Amino acid sequence: MFVTKTIEDVRARRWANPGQSWGLVPTMGTLHEGHLSLVRRARAENDRVGVSIFVNPIQFDRRADLDAYPRQLERDCALLEAEGVDLVWAPDETTVYPPGFQTYVTVEDVTKVLEGAARPGHFRGVTTVVAKLFNVFQPTRAYFGQKDAQQAAVIRQMARDLAFNLAIVVCPIVREPDGLAMSSRNLLLKPGERPAALVLKRALDAASAAWESGERDGERLRAIMRDVIAAEPLARLDYASAADPVTLAEIDGEANAALLSMAVFVGDVRLIDNTLLGAAQPE
Ligand code: PAF
Repeated sequence: MFVTKTIEDVRARRWANPGQSWGLVPTMGTLHEGHLSLVRRARAENDRVGVSIFVNPIQFDRRADLDAYPRQLERDCALLEAEGVDLVWAPDETTVYPPGFQTYVTVEDVTKVLEGAARPGHFRGVTTVVAKLFNVFQPTRAYFGQKDAQQAAVIRQMARDLAFNLAIVVCPIVREPDGLAMSSRNLLLKPGERPAALVLKRALDAASAAWESGERDGERLRAIMRDVIAAEPLARLDYASAADPVTLAEIDGEANAALLSMAVFVGDVRLIDNTLLGAAQPE
């Protein structure tokens, strides 16, 4: 496995054999099973696999979160080597954002709701860095997790709008044995809060069961999720959404497909989770 900080090295490896397909897994490091599931999928579907590790400062809306973000490059590289990754790009901040940098990618409507409403500027940071990663690696396929459902929808929209010549592959959420969606934030939960965090999955399951029984009304699906969250004393709802899986507009009335998603504070930790109903992954 080759580890580098430079764009030149990435390009030289990527184009050493132009006939080979490349899968790219963009990450901010501190890898867990969720990331590794993306790497394994990329490994299975491509001749070569590249992973980027870059804690992207411009997608953090609070300086304290950026400073507190864990960095474990050595450990991450050992995990990636064991998965058969070919290339790791772990650039310095000035390589990604050289002095005088002033070009940003903004996706409009789909970034204004849900996570975008709670974290102004976040998705502009994500799309700007992901566009740069796509240009540096020029992968055949790029892999993202369904856990960040809105990020996946935003990146699909950007790739479509700007005609990036690659496939966006969105991989299923990886869960702990008890159902909690994997996230680096789970480590921040206090021991007493850990069981309460299962309320997100319970709320999604309740709304999914209603869907299975024929419920198609957006507001009633949202109400089911809100009621389950309200019954958990350690949880505080930020939002519960039943939205169109592509535009992320809230469903008003009935729909054939829905992205159910929510953000919930458990103690001080803000957790997100989601499930897709009635729809194949949007292309
Ligand atoms: O999902 C993430 O880890 C980040 O948002 C990404 C896609 C690597 C961009 O910094």
